[in-house]
Amino acid sequence: MSDRSVSRPPALTFPDRHIGPDPAERAAMLETVGYASTADLMTAALPADILTAPDAPAPLRLPEPVGEAEVLAELRALAARNRLLVSMIGQGYYGTVTPPVIRRNILENPAWYTAYTPYQPEISQGRLEALLNFQTMVADLTGLPIAGASLLDEATAAAEAMTLARRVDKGKRSVFVVDADVFGHTLAVLRTRAEPLGIDLVVADLSAGLPDVDAFGVLVQYPAASGQVRDLRPVVDAAHERGALVVVAADLLALTVLRSPGEFGADVAVGSTQRFGVPMGFGGPHAAYMAVRDGLQRQLPGRLVGVSVDAAGKPAYRLALQTREQHIRREKATSNICTAQVLLAVMAGMYAVYHGPHGLRAIAERVHRRTAELAAGLRKLGVEVLTDAFFDTLRVRVPSRAAAVVRTARDLGINLFFADEDTVGVSCDETTTSEHVAAVLRAFGATTPPQTGDVPSALPEGLRRDVDYLTHPVFHTYRSETAMLRYLRRLADRDLALDRTMIPLGSCTMKLNATAEMEAITWPEFAELHPFAPLDQAEGLVQIVRDLETWLAEITGYDAVSLQPNAGSQGEFAGLLAIRGYHRSRGEEQRDICLIPSSAHGTNAASAVMAGMRVSVVACDSGGNIDLADLRAKIDAAGDRLAALMVTYPSTHGVYEETIAEVCRLVHEAGGQVYVDGANLNALVGWAKPGKFGADVSHLNLHKTFCIPHGGGGPGVGPVAVRAHLAPFLPNHPAHTEAGPHTSAGPVAAAPFGSASILPISWAYIRLMGEEGLRAATEQAVLAANYVARRLAPYYPVLYMGRNGLVAHECIIDLRGLQKRTGISNEDVAKRLIDYGFHAPTMSFPVPGTLMIEPTESEDLAELDRFIDAMIAIRGEIDRVAEGSYDRADNPLKNAPHTAEEVTADEWKHAYSRSEAAYPVPSLRASKYWAPVGRIDQAYGDRNLVCACPPPEAFAQ
Ligand SMILES: Cc1ncc(COP(=O)(O)O)c(C=O)c1O
Repeated sequence: MSDRSVSRPPALTFPDRHIGPDPAERAAMLETVGYASTADLMTAALPADILTAPDAPAPLRLPEPVGEAEVLAELRALAARNRLLVSMIGQGYYGTVTPPVIRRNILENPAWYTAYTPYQPEISQGRLEALLNFQTMVADLTGLPIAGASLLDEATAAAEAMTLARRVDKGKRSVFVVDADVFGHTLAVLRTRAEPLGIDLVVADLSAGLPDVDAFGVLVQYPAASGQVRDLRPVVDAAHERGALVVVAADLLALTVLRSPGEFGADVAVGSTQRFGVPMGFGGPHAAYMAVRDGLQRQLPGRLVGVSVDAAGKPAYRLALQTREQHIRREKATSNICTAQVLLAVMAGMYAVYHGPHGLRAIAERVHRRTAELAAGLRKLGVEVLTDAFFDTLRVRVPSRAAAVVRTARDLGINLFFADEDTVGVSCDETTTSEHVAAVLRAFGATTPPQTGDVPSALPEGLRRDVDYLTHPVFHTYRSETAMLRYLRRLADRDLALDRTMIPLGSCTMKLNATAEMEAITWPEFAELHPFAPLDQAEGLVQIVRDLETWLAEITGYDAVSLQPNAGSQGEFAGLLAIRGYHRSRGEEQRDICLIPSSAHGTNAASAVMAGMRVSVVACDSGGNIDLADLRAKIDAAGDRLAALMVTYPSTHGVYEETIAEVCRLVHEAGGQVYVDGANLNALVGWAKPGKFGADVSHLNLHKTFCIPHGGGGPGVGPVAVRAHLAPFLPNHPAHTEAGPHTSAGPVAAAPFGSASILPISWAYIRLMGEEGLRAATEQAVLAANYVARRLAPYYPVLYMGRNGLVAHECIIDLRGLQKRTGISNEDVAKRLIDYGFHAPTMSFPVPGTLMIEPTESEDLAELDRFIDAMIAIRGEIDRVAEGSYDRADNPLKNAPHTAEEVTADEWKHAYSRSEAAYPVPSLRASKYWAPVGRIDQAYGDRNLVCACPPPEAFAQ
């Protein structure tokens, strides 16, 4: 429909660039939808009682927007307010050198960072291979056979391991034993996660043996938080004798030189992969890992990449064992993890590919040597070093002098760890130099430079690693930068990300991640801050945190915001904990029932269970709306046990439900709290505010509405926003009292401000868009969805519509009728879209047999029309199946996607032509994406579970 030859007006402001269609295109779209203006469209679509003023948008008190050059200048000024000292704090966060080839070609490369979670495996082979490298690396180093494709951070991974152990014990016992020598923040997160589930944490010094309790699991850290390296065998054996599972929180770099948890017989290993080339970023994002022994793979939380075969019988990658996940098992899920840390896992895996086993070992040995030099220097000074067997961390006793030593070191440009009044912690890392060691010694009182000479290793003889790791060729092949660069390019070329095509995934808001928004995240002033560094060294980043808290509160109509949660799911958990804390503070402990509509996202139910609530499902009517009669019945049945209702708005069906204000009122009248899942906020910003139309708490997904890229399945930021009465129950953190209220249930993430280093992205977006730009984005997102719905309606039934026959920011098209008549399913359409060069819309959520399309505001009319034309052409193909001119089994839809190899093979056995297979529309001849594999057999991969890199021979048919 659009004519590209007509010249576009110049883009004068950033919103002109963020919003795809220009004014003429918008006018054409409005005409199709039948409205004179986007404001008219919004007032027709939105229920009047959620607007702050009749027929008018919601005012947003935000600073006047600036342009791209100015926003970068402002960010530079904020960066300059951070002070970068050398970090030797350790505690799970270490200096690391990101190989520039990885930084530029992954972290700063939209082919990687704008990709979506690999649910459509045929267009995700590149990142799936990269994740398989990550899994293989973790499995090899931990000595455990199966590793997942990343978790959110080490502390939450430890909590996930705790609940895994409980599931294995079938809930029979309630005690989980934690060694006293674990990171303080890990223990704090374990406490937050244990309490609502009725798990009793027993903290004990396990070097003295297991306490006499009947526990379902035990957690030890290796090396311990103090740096001490202990033989784990006695703890593992004692725990196993009592039928308890053993979880080891292990440092991967240490495991290149130390015996692995698997060798000790551990059941589960967890940890962070941050120091494998991922900057500390004031706390994140980084990928945590979990690996398990054989027999526990079905209990693994999060995603797991496995190997299967495609239609031609060739090896192909895809996500395995998805039936464990929250989107299927809901309240019976193994965890609520959805968005994880894919981009960072890819980086960590590639760090291992880049260095190989010998390179990693050399780094570890260098780190250890520096630490040993430091220990020797300290002992020479007469200072007591408490850690006798260590890898990279020392605990040093300086009675009553710890604060003074830490202060002196800071004056010398180095941050140390203040353990207590008498004890200082020092950690070395890949970036530690002999000058740093000398400066630390000076802080402890040395007046002359240390004597450098040979120092003996402090790795205990019996604990040194003698088992090979990373033997797969991928960890030996890409040593030259040319080879590495081309490997990364080859993988990226296999995938479809936003840099090639629109990704119309409903519920995911795959909008533009503008380059100017992305620039700052790799600046050292943001990237290289330790999360526990004193806040006066992080003034610029703290200002970004505070600005965002204020702006997000304004946008959502709430009173307080915490940016700590690392994903939407963690925001849900934090929000539900706030509700729980509130009820308890009023003596209403019994309120434990959470009402959740049947259409809800799976994470909602899983989070409610984690927060100690019982889920009661509320039915939806045939229009997809909450069934008010059923809601009333469920409220009555819950009585004074009603804790909350969790509802997504606009609904997961993509409509503005008319009754939301009434729903909130009914729940409040019964003493419950209203949780509005804010994943769909892109349909509300600048028009309606959940905090004003009746909700008490929401999480937002900054990786949807506020432009943090999806990274192929993470990172994410899931801030939780609350009304004032819930503010005392927002997350806090032991490392920084400024992170949250002391009245809270504790932290929900390892770092005080969560994934702080990517907050500049959302900060820049809001700063660039301002009030009008943000509102215009919402209006365009709604216009685009209605345009797509209107144009596709003659070809595919649009399932749900709200007021005046309008949808919100996404629409669901129903393939079930067509499938009944022709056998062509929504999956066939999704795979055929790949042949047309598109990423499929969301499949079968929230309704099986459907596709949910969310075009977002960032796609211009030409791209929207290209997609619509593809869908119409596909409908024509379905009609040919119906008419019988295509065979029901052998047609371009059932056989999609078609690979180049298949289409160019000497033999072609299909009843349709090669050009129909590959070039169904002429524009593909100018630019064509070729799926690297054919349709993947999902069931085969689960029956033959392989979750590590297959040998090269597997591909050599
Ligand atoms: C409606 C809804 N709620 C919650 C979530 C969970 O968010 P996250 O994946 O960031 O954990 C999603 C994610 O897609 C969602 O669509």
